Amino acid sequence: MNAGIIGIGRYVPEQVVTNLDLEKRMDTSDEWIRTRTGIEERRIAGDDMDTSDLGLRAAQKALENANVSPEEIDMILVATVTPDQPFPSVACMLQEKLGAKKAAAMDVSAACAGFMYGMVTAKQFIETSAYKYVLIVGVEKLSKITDWEDRNTAVLFGDGAGAVLMGPVADGKGVLSFELGSDGSGGKYLYQDTNIRMNGREVFKFAVRQMGESSVNVLEKAGLSKEDVDFLIPHQANIRIMEAARQRLELPLEKMSKTVHKYGNTSAASIPISMVEELEAGKIKDGDLIVMVGFGGGLTWGAIALRWGR
Ligand code: ACO
Repeated sequence: MNAGIIGIGRYVPEQVVTNLDLEKRMDTSDEWIRTRTGIEERRIAGDDMDTSDLGLRAAQKALENANVSPEEIDMILVATVTPDQPFPSVACMLQEKLGAKKAAAMDVSAACAGFMYGMVTAKQFIETSAYKYVLIVGVEKLSKITDWEDRNTAVLFGDGAGAVLMGPVADGKGVLSFELGSDGSGGKYLYQDTNIRMNGREVFKFAVRQMGESSVNVLEKAGLSKEDVDFLIPHQANIRIMEAARQRLELPLEKMSKTVHKYGNTSAASIPISMVEELEAGKIKDGDLIVMVGFGGGLTWGAIALRWGR
């Protein structure tokens, strides 16, 4: 039994905040933000929308896309570090709002690597035949923990949601290999007190190394090589970090997903949001080998090699 992606959806709030808008609010510039991060604008959710509202919209699209009804879902995993409240979990809120009557539900806290952690957890339940359908939602409303006085962090983040429904797929398709990891000694470089606090340079060094290594490791574990990769979907934190992973895999530019310019860093949501956009643009095709790789606060990291298709 192989576990793969059988439905996918995304939602981003309508309000666009450009670098020029930020110039008016703090001591920064469009030029600084673009050259250091690749970010041009981000989406920010209004007060009327919390994390569960964003997640619900992406989840509904993923179910529609899979043509699976909420009653059929066995488990809901929500990767987020910005839940509506500490408990009940966002996953439980979605369970009710979707009407997923038989689903188990829990949140996964692994920051920007959360979506990778969620997918790998789902894979275990599906491949042991314990569950058939697991919904994984990566969603953040980072704007509510952003310190809008801190230019070191405020320019980096955005709000958004992405979701996939995982279930059994044909032989040779789905998740081929994965890697998850953590290093709690680096927790001091990226954390939340009331707001997000970050040592950008330390996180940058770690991310550049880890994104490349994890990408190569999942290929090795799957018995594949760099030449086999059709598409790289890196966590969209910073174009320079993403570029390091691309260069490590020796991939041409057009084989790497890039949405960071439009949405900034949406943490756990960035990989599924990017995946939807690439599918809609016709860049991911049945049978393609996809490498997804992310890193985040914890420190945490995760990567998956996946053969696209059902
Ligand atoms: N506008 C203008 N100047 C700024 C800004 C800004 N928005 N932010 C910082 N600066 C200044 C700093 O004050 C500093 O000035 P100083 O040297 O006078 O003290 C200078 O710019 C720093 O410049 P650089 O060293 O060139 O910055 P760097 O190349 O390190 O880029 C960045 C900074 C973009 C934050 C980079 O380190 C980075 O991307 N780090 C990783 C961030 C990341 O991916 N975080 C993931 C978080 S995910 C999560 O788990 C929620």
